Amino acid sequence: MGSFDIVVIPGDGIGPEVTTEGVRMLEAVSEKFGHEFTLDEHPAGGGLIDAEGIAIRPETLERASQANAVLFGAVGLPKFDNDPGALIRPEQAVLGLRRELGLWANIRPVKAIASLTAASPLKPEIIDGVDMVIIRELTGGLYFGEPRERRIDKNGLREGVNTMYYREDEVARIAHLGFQLARERTGRITSVDKANVLVVSQLWREIVDEVAALYPDVELDHVIVDAMTMHLIKRPRDFDVVITSNMFGDILTDEASVLTGSMGLLPSASLGTMSENGTGLGLYEPIHGTAPDITGQGIANPLAMLLSVALLLRHSCGLGEEADIVERAIELTIDKGHRTIDLSDNEKKYLSTEQMTDKVLEEFKNLNV
Ligand code: IPM
Ligand code: MN
Repeated sequence: MGSFDIVVIPGDGIGPEVTTEGVRMLEAVSEKFGHEFTLDEHPAGGGLIDAEGIAIRPETLERASQANAVLFGAVGLPKFDNDPGALIRPEQAVLGLRRELGLWANIRPVKAIASLTAASPLKPEIIDGVDMVIIRELTGGLYFGEPRERRIDKNGLREGVNTMYYREDEVARIAHLGFQLARERTGRITSVDKANVLVVSQLWREIVDEVAALYPDVELDHVIVDAMTMHLIKRPRDFDVVITSNMFGDILTDEASVLTGSMGLLPSASLGTMSENGTGLGLYEPIHGTAPDITGQGIANPLAMLLSVALLLRHSCGLGEEADIVERAIELTIDKGHRTIDLSDNEKKYLSTEQMTDKVLEEFKNLNV
């Protein structure tokens, strides 16, 4: 029986609502399999800025770096969106965690669920069978490159600067991760860049090609990012593993979330350099964010969070079988027609966040190992 130390950061908006359900899922896993999860909850995000003037406490970063995993809800508050110049921002909590914990790879599986294709604005014949994994570089590129600053030029005009910077080893490790995953899947990988314009992308492409030479059994394609936005909605089935830089990955994964029917279904794992056995510290979060429009109503879809728990079990605890069973329970729940409001075709008939989790837990308890 394993024993695991997990830092839980519910955050803002619907973050706490879905995190509660994630914790229930962990408790159910503990009960069914006898593992022990020690949960240590920490505040972060807009709420903490209001209370203490910082987005995340230094001791939380320190504590998280010692843990097996971080389970993260969401951060952000509408008042900060209306104040883009605010120097202290809720997003710094998650950016700080990624950076301080060295979580350089963000893994976002995008899989269409047959019984839900009607919930997507795209035609079923386009999205049926979509099954891809987008790997986004997470601690470099435009998000972190230096210089990044506001400044005044010699004529007294205000300037804003960010720098898209990559060093070869940052690209190479993402490429290796992508090729290894492609090998386990269908043997195809797509690298997305803007090499027709950007020098940093020309380096990206060169390094990816060098790494590709070590994986002759994997078929590599390079696609330019603007074209990729089109291909993703016109022929999403053609993609399996996709690797890309931080900024492009941020944009493409939001777009890709539409393929599954609801953003409420997409989990993500942010991982660093893993140990020999393939596990290590990771941060797990649904990609839907804080959803201020439905905060406090108890109607948020918990499935992205529950799927994030599955990723946590697999990548940080080495509990692959347990993770499979969580995922299977979620699939069964959807197949049986249980729906939260975002997936329901009947405005009056839908389950609450808690009820939807109840259904998943019921399936989970009944599944045989
Ligand atoms: C994401 C989010 C974050 C990002 C924000 C909250 C900083 O949009 O995880 O995709 O831009 O990376
Ligand atoms: Mn994003």
